[in-house]
Amino acid sequence: MLKDAVMEKFGLVPKTLLILGSGIGEFVNNLINVETISYKRLFSFEADQSIGHKGNLHLGYIEDIPVLVMEGRKHYYEDVSDSDMRQVIQTFARIGVGNLIVTNACGGMNEEFSPGDIMVIEDHINMSGRNPLVGKNSDDLGPRFPDMSEPYDLEFREIIDKIAYDNDIRLQHGIYVSYIGPSYETKAEIRVFRMLCGDAVGMSTVPEVIVARHADMRVLGLSVITNMSTGISKNKLSHEEVLEIGKLSVGKLSILITEFIKKIS
Ligand code: HPA
Repeated sequence: MLKDAVMEKFGLVPKTLLILGSGIGEFVNNLINVETISYKRLFSFEADQSIGHKGNLHLGYIEDIPVLVMEGRKHYYEDVSDSDMRQVIQTFARIGVGNLIVTNACGGMNEEFSPGDIMVIEDHINMSGRNPLVGKNSDDLGPRFPDMSEPYDLEFREIIDKIAYDNDIRLQHGIYVSYIGPSYETKAEIRVFRMLCGDAVGMSTVPEVIVARHADMRVLGLSVITNMSTGISKNKLSHEEVLEIGKLSVGKLSILITEFIKKIS
């Protein structure tokens, strides 16, 4: 179904899939000549139910470059199975999409960060207790035991650093810790994650990156620090705040992503 829709629209398979995190959905306004397909038509599970997310794939252009943009994603806190989780990225890998740009909203643990900052993910620590590759290996896509020595492509990170510099955008860099949620972390958990050298914490991204790397897709990960984590901030955390700060960051993120897609196309 996806391959037909993509070929009909573009006459080729776009190189890049972009996943938009909470509050960042407005990025789709940057797309030209868009067609939208509901996840219900693409995947075997229900569309994303979580607040602040839609369940749509957009097929459109950034300038003259075709891209696929997912507005909404699956999270393990929705009680999704490992096979449903891996189905998402594998659907795109199977039609030949080679690059993944993954964005998310997350909490900053590194005290040098501030809400509104954008962090380039350099590496991750999977604290969710889940792995989307559990189950039968998709031998057509990759090996049973995929390497994770550099999940976030080094050349992509260098490109985004240069784009940020040229556009006067401050970027942070760090390690993303994945937490299953949906409750936010406790102060003690944040102290532990910090001891483990984590810089930011969130409830998404890592499953998609694992599946993408298994299929040898190249990955760029950008996190919007929407709040400081539990205990680092004196305030209670709320999803409304996450969405609000996410929205405020769309401008900066749009410049970074647009220039990045132009550069790698
Ligand atoms: N923790 C986990 N997930 C998040 C946070 C947080 O502080 N902020 C946005 N997503």
